Amino acid sequence: MRILAIETSCDETAASVIDAQGSIASPSFSVIAQAVHSQIEAHRPYGGVYPNLAKREHAVNIIPILNQVISAEGSVVSLSQEQKEKIIELLNREGTLAQEIIVYVESMANPAVDAICVTSGPGLEPALWVGIRTAQALGIAWNIPVYPVNHMEGHVLSVLVDTATQNMQSIETATVKFPLLSLLISGGHTELVAGASFVDYEKIGETRDDAVGEAFDKVARILELSYPGGPEIGKLAQQFRDSGKQSDIKFPRPMINSGDLDFSFSGLKTAVLYYAKDRDVSDEEKQEIACAFENVVAEVLVAKTKAALLKTGAQTLIVAGGVAANTYIRQEFEKLIAAEFSSVQLLFPRKELATDNSVMIGIAGYLEIVKNGQAPIDIIADGNWSLGSKNA
Ligand code: KG4
Ligand code: ZN
Repeated sequence: MRILAIETSCDETAASVIDAQGSIASPSFSVIAQAVHSQIEAHRPYGGVYPNLAKREHAVNIIPILNQVISAEGSVVSLSQEQKEKIIELLNREGTLAQEIIVYVESMANPAVDAICVTSGPGLEPALWVGIRTAQALGIAWNIPVYPVNHMEGHVLSVLVDTATQNMQSIETATVKFPLLSLLISGGHTELVAGASFVDYEKIGETRDDAVGEAFDKVARILELSYPGGPEIGKLAQQFRDSGKQSDIKFPRPMINSGDLDFSFSGLKTAVLYYAKDRDVSDEEKQEIACAFENVVAEVLVAKTKAALLKTGAQTLIVAGGVAANTYIRQEFEKLIAAEFSSVQLLFPRKELATDNSVMIGIAGYLEIVKNGQAPIDIIADGNWSLGSKNA
């Protein structure tokens, strides 16, 4: 089955075409084409993502991104009046996008795509709507079904793409052992999710306040680093480690002994704020602070995940989401597994698939198609759609 996947939940406008086949227990995928437009430059002056700016940027970039991944040969499509009216009605809140989609569709042949999968939550609702409505309009135009996908399920399944191959084939999924435990660490979420299979999830721990990526971004702002903060902090922290210097900074390790699987990062961010407040922080001190902060984050993530592994008896640990691009955090998980859980399989996404992308949405969408069959009649954006619960 050939799938067009669309992702617009936050600040990346992404689309891809993937081939998918096989059962839920042993699916296989290959990526035919993928494109991502990052809005980082647009949001950078604000130090964070603004939902309405994100929405506008998605509407501007979605067709150019689709153009990069879809190729269609043969006679061009001509839409009926009824199809055009439906598309205009669907996109009545998205400015000129309806007209642009009609012109786009009528400028080429029907692409050889069997289904469209689109992120419908969690995320920024104004941003999600652009992807959903575009997907629905294309579904009408090309007469193919459209399926909603949970963005966090996408992050879990992003690990199914081989980290070694050039051309993005799937890993040997038959070798993945169940049950799974996923630690999802991104700009909007920090959660531990148990999984009996690839499509069966239960959230067993989450942050009570800031997400870990959000803490990286806020600490970066305190240190006057550029947005997004995660990669910047990672770089400075590594420079400090490489310098061989010792640090006396002791930030609190929030909830490390709370006895449950929840997290909290806002106190840690505040501790950094108080430490850096009212003084001139030199570049060297920034490295030291970044390192002390990253050490605490890694220690808390590892401690909670260790408790969750013991509790669930998981055979595979997945660490995914934007923060899973962090080299030091990856190393700390490798150490944990080597030292204490040698029979557990540890999976990370390829670095380019750790942050938001649409390949993971295509993969998650395929498995949901196999599981559920029919496409729903309508799709709505659900900014808080929690993994393990039904789409609202
Ligand atoms: O998964 P993602 O792309 O978007 C969301 O779904 O939120 O995650 C983005 C987050 C940002 O907070 C960013 O600072 C963080 O991931 N991030 C990193 C690194 N690369 C991205 N955090 C730490 N180290 C990194 N190398
Ligand atoms: Zn994400």
